[in-house]
Amino acid sequence: MRIAVIEAADRLRNGEVVAVPTETVYGLAASLNRPEAIQHIFRLKSRPKNNPLIIHVASPSDIQEYVSIVPTAFDKLAAAFWPGPLTLVIGVNSNIIPPIATAGLLTAAFRIPRHPLALELLSLTGPLVMPSANLSGKPSATNAAHVEEDFGETFPVLDGGQCHAGVESTILIWNSDRWCAGRLGAISLDELGEVLGYMPEVINRVKSSGAPICPGQMYRHYAPKALLTLSRDLKLCREVVIGFDNRIYPNAEKVYSLGSSIFPEDAAQRLYAVLRQLDADGVERATIDIDIPKTGLWMTLHERLEKAARG
Ligand code: TXA
Ligand code: MG
Repeated sequence: MRIAVIEAADRLRNGEVVAVPTETVYGLAASLNRPEAIQHIFRLKSRPKNNPLIIHVASPSDIQEYVSIVPTAFDKLAAAFWPGPLTLVIGVNSNIIPPIATAGLLTAAFRIPRHPLALELLSLTGPLVMPSANLSGKPSATNAAHVEEDFGETFPVLDGGQCHAGVESTILIWNSDRWCAGRLGAISLDELGEVLGYMPEVINRVKSSGAPICPGQMYRHYAPKALLTLSRDLKLCREVVIGFDNRIYPNAEKVYSLGSSIFPEDAAQRLYAVLRQLDADGVERATIDIDIPKTGLWMTLHERLEKAARG
């Protein structure tokens, strides 16, 4: 059910959950000061309770009251990339943020989304937690119809059209003296490196304890029902192919296109819609063309495709 921004704000203030567009993917929003609504998000998504949520705000000053120390280069990153698809994980004062949002951690993830409707909504409601608006494990939603596919036709959605980036935000985690990447995303590590003066290292686990640095990364993700295979040479492939407009797959049964192989932004924007379309069409097996570079935004696409195939 499509709703307008005023109704979305009213529902959130009343402790309801609504879906909200961002420039990356749609989010399932609840007000940060409504723990029972946040609980409801976990139930709706079947999301494990130890997977914390990103707190979305309208301006950097909205974060000040929660933060224990402001890490080096926080202001530089915020100035360069906010509003935008960067999430920053930093230490927070305990007791201020409901533990259900942070999964009880002493850190929290923050981001200012770059979508006019999301920003308008946030200015009316204050901070909102928003995980991606998909059932846990399924591909994220990049338009309102995807949200309705997962949560039903009567679920309230603020319709902001097609998401521009199409993949989730990049997550940087402050790790004692440096920023590390906990999740690849819509902003490439090169872009972040230019602002930081060093390339953030991708880390999956805390060195001392072995605990996952970004809890969500250990779960099944982005996966359609189809069995996916990755390949760099599809000349002989007779299966359904996920590939590119400017390439020829002479033996393919059918081709689902990620756009041009020259523009990773195209592929990112289409990726989840293509994975969802496979399910809608009842495709059981498909091969993905991964003859793509391992640089910039392509790195994010490699990571998502590998995860989708593993699922
Ligand atoms: O683009 C996005 O980031 C979207 C839109 C809606 O903003 N949101 C999103 O949320 O992708 P979600 O819940 O699907 O992914 C959030 C990720 C999870 O992997 C979670 O473990 C991680 O952020 N995360 C949240 N708080 C964290 C924290 N304190 N420390 C480490 N990782 C954290
Ligand atoms: Mg997600």
